[in-house]
Amino acid sequence: MTENVVLEEMIGELAIAERVKELGRIITADYAGKDLVTVSVLKGSVIFTADIVRNIDLPVEMAFMAVSSYGDATSSSGRINIRMDVDRPVAGRDVLIIEDIVDTGVTLSSLREYFLKEKGVRSFKICSLLDKPSRRIKNINPDYLGFSVEDHFVVGYGLDAGNKYRNLKNICKIVS
Ligand code: IMP
Repeated sequence: MTENVVLEEMIGELAIAERVKELGRIITADYAGKDLVTVSVLKGSVIFTADIVRNIDLPVEMAFMAVSSYGDATSSSGRINIRMDVDRPVAGRDVLIIEDIVDTGVTLSSLREYFLKEKGVRSFKICSLLDKPSRRIKNINPDYLGFSVEDHFVVGYGLDAGNKYRNLKNICKIVS
């Protein structure tokens, strides 16, 4: 599906940069004096992570994990599988998940339960670049959000289709 696709820009590079700066300022204010550990969900959030952490003016500790709910297909399997557990101790700490997009909410609601019940974190919040609220099947919303988008399959700025297009500087929808 990655051959000969037609992409149309939805959110440009400048708009992303401005929003990321703004989110960084809000997160900096909210987490002052806390024990902030960002947990980035690989791979979709890597580009967003790199930009947002540089806009958080606090001693952030960065951690990573990998989960899968989607294969190369563009529909949800309805469950998640932890492929790589978080690589830093998080018990009793203030965890901020960095995610690329909240779609059905399956991934984040599973992660919320995992971090609160099994990892015993002090606080659990979500910072997502994008949100597709019309697709939600779980009751979960990002605490910090870049942009809300309509129900299109989107790529770029970390988001992929068949593992391609993560390196685009803007966010595009696949039109055909
Ligand atoms: P959820 O569990 O349904 O909320 O799905 C979350 C994951 O699905 C995201 O972290 C993405 O990896 C993937 N995903 C959902 N929608 C899109 C999209 O439009 N483009 C690329 N990946 C998507």
